[in-house]
Amino acid sequence: MSRPTHTLKHEHRVIEQALRALDGICVRLELNETIPAEALAQVLDFIQMYADRFHHEKEEMWFFPALLKAGTEIEGGPLSFLKQEHITERKLLIDLGAAVTAYEHSADSAKAHIVELARNFSRHLLSHMRREDAILFTLAEEILDEPAKADIHQAFINAEIGFGLDSVAHYEQLASELEKSWSV
Ligand SMILES: [Fe+2]
Ligand SMILES: [Fe+2]
Repeated sequence: MSRPTHTLKHEHRVIEQALRALDGICVRLELNETIPAEALAQVLDFIQMYADRFHHEKEEMWFFPALLKAGTEIEGGPLSFLKQEHITERKLLIDLGAAVTAYEHSADSAKAHIVELARNFSRHLLSHMRREDAILFTLAEEILDEPAKADIHQAFINAEIGFGLDSVAHYEQLASELEKSWSV
């Protein structure tokens, strides 16, 4: 039995590891500690590549369309809302990226801005994933039939190969290491 929601939930848990690291970095910055720019660059790289390019793209390319095809969406329904949240997260991520670049040039003056943007981004993404876990994935289990789940499962495998199996493993390892190093 193919369970694409299990794959997506697993990725949410990996993303949460990196967000716990980001939160720990923010706590330290608020205590006026100096954090190596490299640590922030690694968290940013993880979010850009694994959370956005890999995970969100899988949802947008394969999971949301399958739900749409199965007839979930009504005007202003959960899919439109969640897709809009991906767009918002991409905008927040661009701002966070600019703040990380500023931190690389002048850490002291960029600290407060990084904390504000990182907390805002993290809050947004955490509540987005909770909504998907609690509402969308439960709905998907009910309305997608086995052939539809098998199709999504295969598309996810293809997406993982496209992203690079080594890259998937690299980013999952990175999330775990970042959490160990920085979470509080
Ligand atoms: Fe999502
Ligand atoms: Fe998600």
